[in-house]
Amino acid sequence: MSRMRHSRCTGPMTRHYTPIKTNDKNIKEMYNFEFKNPVKLIFGKGTIARIAEEIPARSKVMLTFGGGSVKRNGVYEQVMKALAGRDVVEFWGIEPNPKYETLVEAISLARREGVDFLLAVGGGSVIDGTKFIAAAIPYEGEAWDIITRHDAVTKAVPLATVLTLPATGSEMNNGAVISRRSTHEKFPFHSDLVYPRFSVLDPCVTFSLPKKMVAAGLADTFVHVMEQYMTYPVDARVMDRWAEGLLQTVMEISPAAMSDEPDYDTMANFMLCATMGLNGFIAMGVPQDWATHMIGHELTALHEITHGVTLAIVLPQLLRVMRDDKHDKLLQYAERVLGITDGDDESRIDDAIRRTEEYFHSLGIATRLSDYGVGQNTVDEIVRRFTERGAVWGERNDVTPDKVRMILEKAL
Ligand code: NZQ
Ligand code: ZN
Repeated sequence: MSRMRHSRCTGPMTRHYTPIKTNDKNIKEMYNFEFKNPVKLIFGKGTIARIAEEIPARSKVMLTFGGGSVKRNGVYEQVMKALAGRDVVEFWGIEPNPKYETLVEAISLARREGVDFLLAVGGGSVIDGTKFIAAAIPYEGEAWDIITRHDAVTKAVPLATVLTLPATGSEMNNGAVISRRSTHEKFPFHSDLVYPRFSVLDPCVTFSLPKKMVAAGLADTFVHVMEQYMTYPVDARVMDRWAEGLLQTVMEISPAAMSDEPDYDTMANFMLCATMGLNGFIAMGVPQDWATHMIGHELTALHEITHGVTLAIVLPQLLRVMRDDKHDKLLQYAERVLGITDGDDESRIDDAIRRTEEYFHSLGIATRLSDYGVGQNTVDEIVRRFTERGAVWGERNDVTPDKVRMILEKAL
C-alpha cells in the first residue's frame, strides 16, 4: 500500500468499507470521501405487509430463507400473505455463515426458474448469501471468482430484504461474507450492485430470537462502530459523536434487550443501531480498522464460532496490543462513552479496555479462546494463513501476522 500524500488541500479518501490505509501517523485532518447509500428503509410494526408494493409486479421472485426460524415466528406467513398471487419460488437452507456449496444450488435454481428479483428473509447470513446469488446469477465464470476477483461483479439481479436479526448491517450495505465449507475459508466481497433495493425492518420479528443471538448481534453492532471509531483522531467531530451515540445506545439498551421479555422500543432502537452501525454513515471521512473482523472471520472459518462472539474474543486483546497506536481515541472513548475521568492516561485506558471486555461478559459471552476449545494450533494456523496471504490489517496496516499472534495468544 503506498504512502498517502497529505497537505492542506489534498487528503486521503475513504469510501464505505473500502478504507484507504496509510502509514502516515501525522494525518490529523478529516479524509475526503464520497458517500451514497441507495437503500430504502421501511421501518416499524406491520411493515412486512408493504413488500408487494415495492417489488415490480411482473417479477419472478426468489425468496431465500435460512433454516426455518421464519416458519416458527410468523414471518414466513406475513411474507407469503403480502406476496399472494405473485410469481415466487422458494429457496431454503442458507446456513449461518453462508456456504458457497449451498449458494451454488440456489444460483442453479434461480437460473432454471428465470428469477429476476430476490427477496432475502432472514439474518445477515441469508442476506449475504442472497447478495452473492444476485451477483452470481448473471456471472459466466465460476461463481467463487466473485470473492477472489475485485472486478468480477459487473451485473446483479436486484434484491431486497426482510431483516430478522439486528447485527450485521447487511440490510443497508454493499458487503457480504461468504464461507467455503471444503476449505474452511471465509472472505468478504463488496459491490455497489448488491445494495438492497429496500429493506423492511419490523422490530417485532426479533422477539423470537434466542438470547445468544441477541447477545451476538449486540456485540457485532458494538464492534462495527468500534472498527470505524477506535483508530486515530482526524477531527471528524460529527462522525465521532455519531459513533459515540451508537456505542452508548447499544450499551444502554443491552440489559433490556437481554431480558426475558424485551420491549418493542428496546428492540426498535437495537435494530436501528445495528443498521446505522454499518451503512457507511459513521465511516465518512474517518480511518477504519477492521482487524478484529478479519481475525474473527478466521475463527469462524476454522471453528464455526458465531461471528459476534469472535469479535468479543478478539477486540479486547487487540485494544491491549494496539493501545499505543490507539492512545488518543482510547482516552476519548474512556471519557465520552464510558465516563472514565479519574486517574492518569494509562490507567484510564486500562479501565476502558477492562470495561469493554466486561460489557461482553455482561451479554453472557465468554471472551477466551479456551472457552471454545480453541488452542495454540489455531493461532499458528491463522498466523500461517495471514503470512501466506501477505495480509496486514488495521487503520495503519500495522496489524501484521506477528501482532495477530500476540492478540490471539493473549486471548488463549
Ligand atoms: O436460519 P434460521 O432458521 O433463520 O435461524 C437463524 C440462524 O440460525 C436465527 N435467526 C435469525 N432471525 C431469527 C432467528 N431465530 C429466531 N428468530 C429470529 N427472528 O439466527 C441464527 C443466526 O443467523 P445469522 O443470519 O447467521 O446471524 P447474523 O445476522 O449475525 O449474520 C452473521 C453473518 O453475517 C456476516 C457474518 O460474518 C456472518 O457470516 N456479516 C455480514 C456483514 C455484512 N454483510 O456487512 C458484516 C458483519 O460484520 C458480518 O461479518
Ligand atoms: Zn460484524
